[in-house]
Amino acid sequence: MSKIWVGTNWKMTKTIAEGISYTKELKQIANKLTSDIELFIIPSHTALVDIKKEVSNSRIKIGAQNMHWEDTGAYTGEISPKMLNEIGLDLVELGHSERRQYSNENDTDINKKVVAALKYGMQPLVCIGENIQQKNNGISLEVLAAQLKVCLKGLTEVQAQQVLIAYEPVWAIGENGMPADAKYVGEIHSFLRGIIVELFPEVGNDIPLLYGGSVNLENFLEYIDHQDVNGLFVGRTAWNMETFTVILHELEKHLYQ
Ligand code: 13P
Repeated sequence: MSKIWVGTNWKMTKTIAEGISYTKELKQIANKLTSDIELFIIPSHTALVDIKKEVSNSRIKIGAQNMHWEDTGAYTGEISPKMLNEIGLDLVELGHSERRQYSNENDTDINKKVVAALKYGMQPLVCIGENIQQKNNGISLEVLAAQLKVCLKGLTEVQAQQVLIAYEPVWAIGENGMPADAKYVGEIHSFLRGIIVELFPEVGNDIPLLYGGSVNLENFLEYIDHQDVNGLFVGRTAWNMETFTVILHELEKHLYQ
C-alpha cells in the first residue's frame, strides 16, 4: 500500500471557534503535503458544519465521531447517517473504545452502523482493541478477531473496499495509557491483516489498517515502519499543531525514503 493515512479524533476537546482556527492552520500545511498522505480530522458534532466549510477547498477529509444506524426515529440525543450525509462527510468513526466503555456500544451495534455509513457513502473507520484484562489473560487475538468478524459481518468485497480499520489497544489510549511496544503493534497488525484477507480475499490486502493509542513524537516512526501499519490515528499529539506538523512532515519523508 503506497499511501499513509493519518488523522485525528478531537474527542470532546475543541469548541467551534477553536476547531476553525486549528483547521485553518492545518490547511496551510496540508496544501503542501504529498497526496500520498490521506489526512483527516474528526471534530465533535457541533463543529461539523463549520469545519466542513473550512475543509471544502482543501484535501483534508472530515468525519464524525459517532452516529446511530437508523435514518430517522425516536432516538433522543442521537444523530443519523442521513443527517451526517447532508453535511457531506467523508467518513465516520465507529466503535471507539470510549464509546464502547461509556456508552455500552457493542460489535453488533457497530456492524449496523458500518452498513448504514456505507449506504450513505461515508467510509466507516472501525475501531477495535483489547483491554488490559484481555491482554493479560492472553486472549488479545481472539478478542480482536471476534471484533473484526462481527463489526464487518455481511459486507461484500465491494463494500469492504471502503472500510478503514484502526487498531487501538484500550490500555494504550489517553492520559493514563501506556504506549504499546512497536514490535507488539507490528505482530498484531500482521495478525489482523490475515483475518481481513480471510474475510475478504479479493480486497483484504488493500484495506487500510491504522494504529492509534498514545502515538507521539518518540514512537510514531517505529509504528509506521511496519508493513501492515498503513496509517496513524492520533489523539493528544495531533491536537497541538506544532507536534502534528512534525508528524506530517516526517511521514512524508518516510514515504519517499
Ligand atoms: P491518544 O493519542 O490521546 O492516546 O488517543 C488516541 C485515540 O483515542 C484516537 O482515537
